Amino acid sequence: MQEQLETIERNGLSALETIDDTDALESWRVEHLGRSSPLMDVFNQLGQLPKEERPAIGRIANQVKQSLEASYAEKVEYLKEAELIRTLRTEHIDVTLPGRKVQIGRLHPITQTMRRIYQIFAEMGFQVYQSRDVETDEYNFQLLNFPPHHPAREMQDSYYVAGEYEEDNPVLLRTQTSPGQIHAMREYAAEYPDDPPPIRIILPGMCYRHEQLSTRSETQFTQVEGLAVGKSITFSDLKGTLSDFNKRMFGMQVRSRFRASHFPFTEPSAEVDIECFVCGGQGCSVCKRTGWLEILGCGMVHPIVLQNGGYDPSIYTGFAFGMGPERITMLRHRVEDIRYFWTNDMRFLEQF
Ligand code: DAH
Repeated sequence: MQEQLETIERNGLSALETIDDTDALESWRVEHLGRSSPLMDVFNQLGQLPKEERPAIGRIANQVKQSLEASYAEKVEYLKEAELIRTLRTEHIDVTLPGRKVQIGRLHPITQTMRRIYQIFAEMGFQVYQSRDVETDEYNFQLLNFPPHHPAREMQDSYYVAGEYEEDNPVLLRTQTSPGQIHAMREYAAEYPDDPPPIRIILPGMCYRHEQLSTRSETQFTQVEGLAVGKSITFSDLKGTLSDFNKRMFGMQVRSRFRASHFPFTEPSAEVDIECFVCGGQGCSVCKRTGWLEILGCGMVHPIVLQNGGYDPSIYTGFAFGMGPERITMLRHRVEDIRYFWTNDMRFLEQF
C-alpha cells in the first residue's frame, strides 16, 4: 500500500506539471483529490488494514495528500499570474493615443448678436427691460394706437391663446416687443405719477406671427425694441443714437440713412438703412445692387402712446426703435435663410 501511495503521488505531480489552464486544473483536482480519487480510496480502505499498519500508512497517505494539495495551490497561483500577464499583454491601453474630443457647446448665433446689441446700448446708458411673451390685445395693439380691426394689424397676423377674455381683448403671443414700452412706462410712472423719471431701455425678446414661411420670414423671431423718454428728447437724439449704434455694430465707416415711414405708435416714423458694408455702397448681391441695407424701424413716440404709458405728452417726448437680430445676423454672416436659426441643425449652429 505504501508503494501504491508513492505511485499516486508521482502520477499526481507529473500530471499537474503539464497543466496550463484553469479548466484542466479543475479536472485534475477532481481526478486526484476528489471523492473517488485513488488517494481517497486509500483513506477509505484504511479501516480494513491490520491495526499495526494503520498509523504508518495513514501518515504516509496524509503526507501524499498534503503534497498534492500544496502543489495544487501553487499551480492555482501560477495560473492566476499567467492569466494576469496574458490580459496585460493583450488588453494593454496605449496611453499615447490622442483622446476623444469633448464637444464644447457655444452660444446660439442669435444670442451672440443679442449680447453684442446689449453691450452697445449699455455703453450708451440703456438698461435691459424684460417683458412678457404672452400679451393681451390691449397691450400688443390698442395701447400702441392700433385700434381693433385697424388695417395696420394686417402685417402682424397673430396667434391667439385659448382662454377667457373680455370682448375685443383676446390673449395672444406678442407679435412685437413694442407692448413692453407700455409696461415699462406704466411701471416707472406708477412710482412717481406726478413726475415720472426719464427712461432709457432696450426690450429684447421672442415674437410670434402667423407668417407664410419663407427664406425671410419665420413664425417666431427675436426683436430688440428701444425706448428713450425724457423732457427734451428730439429726433436728433434718435438719429445720433441709431447712427452710432450702426457704426459700432457694422463698422465705423458705415453711414446711416433715415427714410420716412409709418408705424401707428410713432410720429414721425422712419426706417433706417445702413450703407452696405459688403460692397461699401457700390452695389452687390447682398444689398440687391442698391448700396443700402434696411436695418430697423424707429420714430418719435406717439403722444397717445406716451399718454397711455402715464407720461404727459405736453411735458415728455421720446423715441423708440425696433430691430430684428435674425436679420442683423443674416447680414453679418451672409446667412441666406432665416429658418436655419430655429431648426436646431447642428451643422448650421456649429459654424458660429
Ligand atoms: N414693432 C415694429 C414691428 O414689429 C417694429 C418697430 C418699428 C418698433 C418702429 C419700434 C419703432 O419701436 O419705433 O414691425
